[in-house]
Amino acid sequence: MQHLMSPLDLSVEELDKLLTLANDIENNPRKYAHACEGKKLATCFYEPSTRTRLSFEAAMLNLGGSILGFSSADSSSAAKGESVSDTIRVISCYADICAMRHPKEGAPLVASEKSAIPVINAGDGGHQHPTQTLTDLLTIRSLKGRLDNLKIGLCGDLKFGRTVHSLIHALIRYPDIQFTLISPEELRVPSYIREDVLRKNDVPFREVERLEDAMADLDILYMTRVQKERFFNEDDYVRMKDFYILNKKKMSLAKEDMIVMHPLPRVNEISVEVDDDPRAAYFRQAQYGVYVRMALILTLLEVDVC
Ligand code: CP
Repeated sequence: MQHLMSPLDLSVEELDKLLTLANDIENNPRKYAHACEGKKLATCFYEPSTRTRLSFEAAMLNLGGSILGFSSADSSSAAKGESVSDTIRVISCYADICAMRHPKEGAPLVASEKSAIPVINAGDGGHQHPTQTLTDLLTIRSLKGRLDNLKIGLCGDLKFGRTVHSLIHALIRYPDIQFTLISPEELRVPSYIREDVLRKNDVPFREVERLEDAMADLDILYMTRVQKERFFNEDDYVRMKDFYILNKKKMSLAKEDMIVMHPLPRVNEISVEVDDDPRAAYFRQAQYGVYVRMALILTLLEVDVC
């Protein structure tokens, strides 16, 4: 039985197979419409979500399966003090596969150790968000035609942003990847990523504070939200929250074929005036999230569709 805790749980070859399956699902949805009949997905979300939870549920429904679960810790027996280990042992009696989001780093891993069904990490604190990474990789491969030879700007909260941490881990496995890390001093990428991931693997990167200084060179601009829920101090959040606002003027500095990605939700970091720019890919990215989660469910449940 296979779980998914990190994008690195999949080899590059396994990832390639998964993304190819996701593209086939996109092009032939009817072929997969009954693939998971009789199977159930549990979504155990101890932290708020729109895209991840609903795209998992849409994915299972698109595959002909059923869904059950909870959308907040308050509406589960976690509010009475139940551990994730006990919860997953019980959920294993009710469902065939579980997607779990938790504010504590490592909670889905703890659950997977006691689980009788595959567990998918749907985001654990500031740590990892592997299915967002799968979504991002499918978006990049589909829209840019490759996962190598790319100049990628990561902008915003690079300190707490789990989507950014997961994406860096995944992309450094491909040749000729260069990062521009765009953040205020207080929200720079953690030193373990700078030293143990980027420098250790000889991945070229530079750190800048001004978005304008990075735009012209990029193939992909990956914007992120400054996450209020990760700050201990309201004043720090207020000072940081509007540090970056991508608008038409800044987009005029970018290449014609650059794409703008964002895991969403956005707050102010991308002006709505950018939404109509053909380079804005963030809503298409959310759609790719459904296809890749369908592919992941099929893979972890070992369902073959001929
Ligand atoms: N991208 C993402 O994880 O969105 P949600 O928090 O809405 O699931």
